[in-house]
Amino acid sequence: MPTDNAAAWDRHSAAYQEGARLPTDVAHYGPDIGSEADLRLLGDLKGKRVLELGCGGAQCSIAFSKQGATAIGVDFSAEQLSFARRLCDREGAKVELHHSDLADLAFLRADCIDLAFSAYAFGYVEDLNRVFRQVHRVLKVGAPLVFSLPHPAYDLIDDDSEQPLLVRRSYFDRSPIDYEHNGIAFTDYHHTIGDLYTSLVRASYRVDTILEPEPVHGGPRSQHWRDAFRMIPRTLIVRARKEGN
Ligand SMILES: C[S@@+](CC[C@H](N)C(=O)[O-])C[C@H]1O[C@@H](n2cnc3c(N)ncnc32)[C@H](O)[C@@H]1O
Repeated sequence: MPTDNAAAWDRHSAAYQEGARLPTDVAHYGPDIGSEADLRLLGDLKGKRVLELGCGGAQCSIAFSKQGATAIGVDFSAEQLSFARRLCDREGAKVELHHSDLADLAFLRADCIDLAFSAYAFGYVEDLNRVFRQVHRVLKVGAPLVFSLPHPAYDLIDDDSEQPLLVRRSYFDRSPIDYEHNGIAFTDYHHTIGDLYTSLVRASYRVDTILEPEPVHGGPRSQHWRDAFRMIPRTLIVRARKEGN
């Protein structure tokens, strides 16, 4: 039985937010890599409607709203959203927050979103085809979906026992990855680069960017840092644009 990731995130939210302390002035893509200030994938957001998928504490949505966007955040964890509400109040930022699964965006009308963005949420989603179709429906033609997720090569190792680094799982194994963090059970889903590309093209997107960023040289290290990040990409970033309906 796969884990109930929404319940897991409810239990993990407080510790995650305490440890991550994410910025609210610039969008982030993942631990120990450059932010949007370095990667520049999103363009000018002034006056744009931006949808953040798996927004968690809404730090990226707050950054989008500070840049003049109308920000909409979606998450299925009530605890993450209640942290997001408190943070928005503290920052004086207006973000529309929705408690929903990413596969259900029925609260949005078709062709109304200028940018869909997601940082590290899609690894918890088994059926990404469905999410890509939902996002396609709400995006305007030509508008980008930009997302980061755990790099599928990183799934092959166990970074808790770093020496020696061994391949413990096949790249071709698509079965769910069950793990525990702080005594809380989660399930991740392994999406290969080929599978992601194929799903996006089938859902009528054109992929224009795939990034596998190296860790920032000499940068401060996050709570997630492992020396393995120097050898195996931790994060995969994809930008794809909606083609016609
Ligand atoms: C690692 S956190 C990242 C949150 C935020 N993007 C950030 O960078 O801090 C993953 C988030 O995705 C949300 N999430 C995962 N699967 C989801 C789904 N199927 N529907 C809605 N939210 C989901 C979780 O509740 C959690 O808040």
